[in-house]
Amino acid sequence: MPPRTHGQRLFPGVMDENIPAMRKIAWNAAILLLLAVPLFAETPLIRPGEVWPDNRGQHVQAHGGGIILVHGTYYWFGEDRSQGQDRSKRYVACYSSKDLAHWTFRNQPIKLSDPENFGPTWVLERPKVFYNAKTKKYVMYMHIDGPSPGHTGGYDLARVGVAVSDTVDGDYRYLRSFRPLDHQSRDIGQFIDDDGTPYLIFEDRPFGFRIATLSGDYLNVEKEVCLIPLHLEGGAVVHLDGLYYAIGSALTGWNPNPNKYATAKSLAGPWSEFKDIAPPETKTYGSQSTMLLKIVGKKATTVIFMGDIWKPRTQWDSRYLWMPLEIGNGKLWLPEPKPWSLDVKSGVATILK
Ligand code: DGJ
Repeated sequence: MPPRTHGQRLFPGVMDENIPAMRKIAWNAAILLLLAVPLFAETPLIRPGEVWPDNRGQHVQAHGGGIILVHGTYYWFGEDRSQGQDRSKRYVACYSSKDLAHWTFRNQPIKLSDPENFGPTWVLERPKVFYNAKTKKYVMYMHIDGPSPGHTGGYDLARVGVAVSDTVDGDYRYLRSFRPLDHQSRDIGQFIDDDGTPYLIFEDRPFGFRIATLSGDYLNVEKEVCLIPLHLEGGAVVHLDGLYYAIGSALTGWNPNPNKYATAKSLAGPWSEFKDIAPPETKTYGSQSTMLLKIVGKKATTVIFMGDIWKPRTQWDSRYLWMPLEIGNGKLWLPEPKPWSLDVKSGVATILK
């Protein structure tokens, strides 16, 4: 640096005697910034209703999805409705995360052309993956649909499809579709009880909301545990402090409606009456239930309401509404959506003011 001549200031416009004070301010600001960076890094925010970028910066495509935990990593499966894909195929995407906020794209475990000649309007929705520790297979259930003979719509067959894989995020092999226990099945939900028992929840249009166990190899639906004679889709169940909570939405297509919940001491019932989970005029804040995810931490247990904010005309842009529920003692309430953070180790969720 050339020597300063007399009368020349180090920083033009700043009196040299003020420089030490300015340095101090700059230091303090730098220290504050250093302290704040790890704080933000440790508490990533989940932002309901916003675009949710994955590790590639692309909006997560896991609509109508479900999550399983495998060796400390969460895997989120859902309908991949990305723009520009081959429209004759149906796609499921899989993402992984350790903190439920940052998601890494893993694979499209399903990229399926019409597997049983259902016709061009066939449907694959709401994929859910179970892990079978006996067979060491990952088993995916999905809503498979299409027109029945003489019909043109996409929702007449009302079946579940089953696919398997040796690895959680591998390419799943499609096996078959069928009507579980000979009942119609449209929206499906997944529930794994605390003792590891897997259940399929399915919407049976003529009768209501059914919960059933799976066979030993998980490839079949074995036995009905319960029929709640109400027309609910987007069904989900969680088990908390000795009580089962079931939620579901009314049947209004892609449009939101006030989702409701009931409780029971046993999955088989009797179930309480169904009540609103949020102010009914908000129509579940524009979302529809897909899963209740229980995070058991060292300090607290948080149950996350996972919902879809569908955009039927721009489906790829459909958003997610995830919020920690106010739940316990038979009550369940979805707080007003706001950005929030979750520490998966402690189980503590914090909603921003
Ligand atoms: C509501 C269901 O919950 C969705 O999964 C989808 O099947 C739409 N209906 C189609 O209208």
